[in-house]
Amino acid sequence: MNTNTDWATLPFAYTNTGANVRCSFSNNQWGEITVHSDDILPIHMAATCLHYGQECFEGLKAYRGKDGNIRLFRWKDNAARFNRSARRVGMQEIPEEVFEKALFTLIENNRDSVPPYGTGATLYIRPLLIGTTPRLGLNRSEDYLFVMFACPVGPYFKNGFKPGKVVVERDSDRAAPLGTGTVKIGGNYAAALNTTLRVQKEGYSSAMYLDPKQKTYIDECGPANFFGIKGNSYVTPQSSSILESITNLSLMTLAEHIGLTVERRQIPLEELAEFSEAAQCGTAAVLSPIYSITDPATSTVYTFGKPDEVSPVCSKLYTMLTGIQSGDLEDIFGWITLL
Ligand SMILES: Cc1ncc(COP(=O)(O)O)c(C=O)c1O
Repeated sequence: MNTNTDWATLPFAYTNTGANVRCSFSNNQWGEITVHSDDILPIHMAATCLHYGQECFEGLKAYRGKDGNIRLFRWKDNAARFNRSARRVGMQEIPEEVFEKALFTLIENNRDSVPPYGTGATLYIRPLLIGTTPRLGLNRSEDYLFVMFACPVGPYFKNGFKPGKVVVERDSDRAAPLGTGTVKIGGNYAAALNTTLRVQKEGYSSAMYLDPKQKTYIDECGPANFFGIKGNSYVTPQSSSILESITNLSLMTLAEHIGLTVERRQIPLEELAEFSEAAQCGTAAVLSPIYSITDPATSTVYTFGKPDEVSPVCSKLYTMLTGIQSGDLEDIFGWITLL
């Protein structure tokens, strides 16, 4: 990136930073990690990733601190989740040291693309694993390609940190009760895409999915976990069809640290009426406060706080987590790797 880059207005969009890293698995072993400037992958048209969904990905970020150092946040948790996803769709797992070497090589080759401290912008890192063996019959791949690329992205909230509107989705599910909702594979996102586009057109920030078996309990909000504040508790869903968010795990730790009780359990939709705050959380936005959740089936609108003001616990947790990520606050939980 050049010195004229307007970091604060960068969209969440792909850009070729000039260096991506790749590593192939074949003949039962991982090869060397190689650095590429080209962003096109040579791939066989019968590769299992294209037909049988042998694909998984991750999303994590590198942050520039005031001290100029680059900080990676809980990357080992992303590496572990990547392998859980790979395993779930029959793919080869990646040794943590291969993931680590790829990640560090990627950062080393993209240091200039890590946005400056104070701009709110970050370097988004996307690991990807695909099955590449050509197969006509359904079978797992013998060969895999592990790719990692990175793109600088602007702050999620470009016009300030504001609460959004969410709508309950009852006409489709993003995952089956014991399906693949707990892992990060492309199929889950394809299954939710039409709904996401529709609700955004209707003016909502995202769709809230209910548990796919009974449609009773809250699952998650599009590509983000849900949590709410009820009395002195941080309450977040326990479900066999949601992704375990690393941001949510971190917020739970911080919530406990500031004296809240953490409840990870089933949350009946109607219980929202008893929540004083609600939010979505994930790597992209850290946390995104929710002002209202509309349930069209019952014409109920649950509201939390004020439409143009971030509620107090959300605000506190956001400041703490972003402070640790940027190095403004001490990393007391050992979440940061300095590069
Ligand atoms: C379905 C889904 N839920 C939750 C999250 C949030 O997870 P994390 O905090 O690890 O980014 C994501 C994003 O990765 C997601 O895609």
